[in-house]
Amino acid sequence: MDDIPLSPAAQELLFLEARSANTFTDTPVTDEQLHAIWDLLKWAPTSGNTNPLRILYLRSPESRERAMAHLAEGNRPKTRTAPMTALLAADLDFHEFVPQLFPARAEQAEAYAKMEGRAEMAKFNATLQAGYFIIAVRAIGLAAGPMSGFDYPAMDAEFFPDGRYASVLLVNFGEPGPDAWFPRLPRLDYGQAVTEI
Ligand SMILES: Cc1cc2nc3c(=O)[nH]c(=O)nc-3n(C[C@H](O)[C@H](O)[C@H](O)COP(=O)(O)O)c2cc1C
Repeated sequence: MDDIPLSPAAQELLFLEARSANTFTDTPVTDEQLHAIWDLLKWAPTSGNTNPLRILYLRSPESRERAMAHLAEGNRPKTRTAPMTALLAADLDFHEFVPQLFPARAEQAEAYAKMEGRAEMAKFNATLQAGYFIIAVRAIGLAAGPMSGFDYPAMDAEFFPDGRYASVLLVNFGEPGPDAWFPRLPRLDYGQAVTEI
């Protein structure tokens, strides 16, 4: 695998050694780092270049506390002590940005406006972008702890009461703390997950 264009060090950082962090130090995440994450992840591919992901950073202790009641109990201490928490959400009205994002096919905005599956399309593509978010966090040298263990309708009612946005994933991130990693869990073998026809 020496011929993979990504350097071995980068492969380790992004994939082979990358783990989900359960604890973090209190080293703050800087504005510069937040922008660096965006400047990488924004290049993720999305259907029709629709870019439906929206990010709500729960930066203040007060905003973090508003999320607590909606998290599974085991996820609360991890989130309370993380230096930064991102609530990743899908913009269900992403079509408003189509003229900016795909000017040559601006008329698609009207088609999406009437499309029955628009919310599913938004969530599907925002979830794909959420995967890129995790990789971007790792790429700038921080550790991410993704979480779906929360009450989605309650979280949406708390932070997105007008119904325009739907949460897809919460991600804590920062410098990993002591005992950040659970023992490594196995993965499926190639033959278990892959079929060739
Ligand atoms: C979509 C998603 C949801 C997850 N939800 C939680 C969660 O609610 N709480 C938690 O502690 N870890 C959560 N995790 C972390 C996984 O448990 C972890 O990625 C998996 O066990 C593999 O561990 P590793 O990433 O360290 O290899 C989630 C990960 C993903 C991708």
